[in-house]
Amino acid sequence: MSFIAVILAAGNSKRMVSSRSKVLHEILGDSSLLWALRAIPKEVKNTVIVINKNHDEIKRLVKVWEDKKLFSTSVYFAVQSSTVGTAHALLSAKPLIDKFNATNVLIMSADVPLIMESSLSKLIKKCPSLAVADFIEPNGYGRIFLKKDGIHLASIVEDLDTNKMQSRHRVVNGGIYALPCKKIFPLLKMVKNTNKQKEFYLTDAINILAENQKIESVPIDSQELFGLNTRTDLSLLQNYAKNRVNSRWLKSGVTILDPSTTFIGPRVKIGSDVLIEPNVTLIGAVTIGTGSIIQAGSRIEDSKIGNHTVIKPYTLIDRSVLTNHVVVGPFARLREGTELSDHVQIGNFVETKKAKISKGSKANHLTYLGDVSIGTNSNIGAGVITCNYDGLKKHKTVIGDNVFIGSDTQIIAPIKVGDGTLVAAGTTVTVDIPSHHKAKSRVPQVNRPLKKAKK
Ligand code: UD1
Ligand code: MG
Repeated sequence: MSFIAVILAAGNSKRMVSSRSKVLHEILGDSSLLWALRAIPKEVKNTVIVINKNHDEIKRLVKVWEDKKLFSTSVYFAVQSSTVGTAHALLSAKPLIDKFNATNVLIMSADVPLIMESSLSKLIKKCPSLAVADFIEPNGYGRIFLKKDGIHLASIVEDLDTNKMQSRHRVVNGGIYALPCKKIFPLLKMVKNTNKQKEFYLTDAINILAENQKIESVPIDSQELFGLNTRTDLSLLQNYAKNRVNSRWLKSGVTILDPSTTFIGPRVKIGSDVLIEPNVTLIGAVTIGTGSIIQAGSRIEDSKIGNHTVIKPYTLIDRSVLTNHVVVGPFARLREGTELSDHVQIGNFVETKKAKISKGSKANHLTYLGDVSIGTNSNIGAGVITCNYDGLKKHKTVIGDNVFIGSDTQIIAPIKVGDGTLVAAGTTVTVDIPSHHKAKSRVPQVNRPLKKAKK
């Protein structure tokens, strides 16, 4: 039984009131479409994403995710000529499906992000099948009516086409189906758009199929089938995803002091005995090592934090690597390409970018370190600035081991500061300093008594 997946993503996102496709809106930092792609079971080798002609952004992002290996299936695109309904969308994928000669199709919606791989595997096993759930508030969803056996589909009635009685029915269609290609595709052309939305409904084709074919309804957790159609849905999905991810980490030995204000993305990995304080956001490919502490209000994106490292309050870390026993913050900003080795200390109001700082070195106050490498056990005083940009190009600063840079020093890059060097406070470094030298550039201070009038 070979399966191909089709993800419907061509819709116009009218209810989101957005210039972007709704399937690119993010839940815990990952797009709805990426969540759907990631859930596709390993055995489904190929996937067709149906997009519309304005969806170059989707193509571009899928390529980025593919390069980062964020999902395992191979992706192909089909373009739906005009977005006139889900039946027409699925039909747009037919040429590609014929090419792959698949027996069955796993049909998914890119706006149903929280579906789990295990649930999709269940649907595949029970093919022909569809995902259903009991919703306390079923408004907006197609309603599922079963045959007398209570298992197989009798019909799906779209929300806008329900009568009063049907609209009270709480079992909804999740928009995810496992169906035999030979049976569903011929029916797609038979569907008419004589409904309130004047759309060609995939659910109408499934209703025709259900007349002669048993389609098993597979109950799935309602949050997994929650759809992204409005901004309210987006905030609810964010909440559901947050609770799901946080409870997994709580169970595996991570302390999260206030899970309601802690946002941990689905690709984050956390070691045991990590402590996370309130209002922390960890987004993208973040790794936190054993015993580390992330204090209140910090945000970490696409970065690696080693073991027993402390991130003090209100620190921002982006695309950086920190090893073990590092201390950063409060109010520090580590930008892309920052690499901090063991026992490095970065203090308040320090900004780093492309800064490689070796073991035991410190920059504790009000400093900018850009395009710089710093050796071991060096001390960068308060208010030191690496002047790395001349208005056209960026230049590098290389600082050796056991260097002491006094406060309020400006280093006009490119510059090399040798090992064991001492730079006096207030120096403007404009030429390289050899190892074991002292550098000082200061206008000599003159003290004169104030004249009476000036006093
Ligand atoms: C659909 C189902 C509904 C189900 C719900 C579950 C139909 C007719 N209805 O409704 O029974 O309860 O999903 O979430 O299928 N799309 C296209 N091309 C189009 C229209 C839509 O690719 O022409 C895509 C959208 O981008 C979206 C998916 O198909 O990812 C579903 O479309 P949407 O408009 O959200 O359908 P619902 O009203 O949610
Ligand atoms: Mg929808």
